[in-house]
Amino acid sequence: MKLGECKDIRFPWRGIIEAYREFLPLTEKTPVVTLKEGNTPLIKSENIVKQMGIDLELYFKFDGANPTGSFKDRGMTLALSKALESGSKAVICASTGNTSASAAAYAARAGIKAIVLIPEGKIALGKLAQALVHGAHVIQIKGNFDEALNIVKMLVEKYPMTLVNSINPFRLEGQKTAAFEICDQLGFAPRYHALPVGNAGNITAYWRGFKEYREAEKISSLPIMLGFQAAGAAPLVIGKPVEKPETIATAIRIGNPASWKGAIEARDESGGRIESVTDEEIMHAYRLIASLEGIFCEPASASSLAGVIKLYRLNYFERGETVLCTLTGSGLKDPDIVFKVSKEPMKVKADIKTVEKILEGIL
Ligand code: F0G
Repeated sequence: MKLGECKDIRFPWRGIIEAYREFLPLTEKTPVVTLKEGNTPLIKSENIVKQMGIDLELYFKFDGANPTGSFKDRGMTLALSKALESGSKAVICASTGNTSASAAAYAARAGIKAIVLIPEGKIALGKLAQALVHGAHVIQIKGNFDEALNIVKMLVEKYPMTLVNSINPFRLEGQKTAAFEICDQLGFAPRYHALPVGNAGNITAYWRGFKEYREAEKISSLPIMLGFQAAGAAPLVIGKPVEKPETIATAIRIGNPASWKGAIEARDESGGRIESVTDEEIMHAYRLIASLEGIFCEPASASSLAGVIKLYRLNYFERGETVLCTLTGSGLKDPDIVFKVSKEPMKVKADIKTVEKILEGIL
């Protein structure tokens, strides 16, 4: 095949809107605001399963490989495209970090203003840097995500701005394309699909995506949905909002998820579970993914694997089944956390003898 002869409409990759246009609420007039998000790697676990004696076909969908480093880009391309179509001049969101980074980048691309409300001191530095460098107006509030979202919801009633949190229906429409991609990449739907849950938009979006793909006869079965919350921020597990959510995984430090109902529906319709994992379990999984598979995700993302390990130990899975973990964000967003779990690198003289001595200890 000669260059340029590829007939697959997905290549060269033009972003999720063009790849999955038939499944999305677009008109001919919708301007496409894209950074070519999507088409992220699906990576099979080789070393974790071996070293831990896990008898599963375990896969990672690395959505940290999106343009701004998280799955939010899938929703933001559509949300910003529709905002532009409706003549909006500004977008606003509350965020634990990734939504603000993505909104800032896509607003920059669209040439409109972005205003983001974030919980002071509780977002990873990389995410704050992204919002700033893309020119967003960043407002830090002395409160948590839930409080920021309440403020934002009230503000959009009063001012001409488009809300781009996941309660904006276009966000979830875009995010459901991750489910399509997984099925396209695997060739079938996984038996189990595990992902972190914060505001619960993503689990809602994935479940919708899988159902639509089955209706379209692209897959013949639906996965069992497994959502994992951090133990200190697990309202869906305890069945009521958490007033002061706490976890090292700041991305999912949320006490009152906006898509509560969607998450419960995904769990119940698929026959799945929503469980909690401790910060220790999250950090253990985070290190395993990085040190054994070479994938650098952020702590919140690792809660999917943490949950799978927990359920595996409880003999939850049938042996040999396909289990897919979505890794929602890039580890580069939060390098500070690495220094909490790794040893400081050693410092030595600039002298070959000294370095050789160390090398002998390593090899
Ligand atoms: N993983 C990461 C890396 C996230 O940033 C988020 C949410 C989630 C998982 C959970 O997804 O909210 O759809 O259940 N981050 C939002 C934000 C809240 O503001 O960036 P969810």
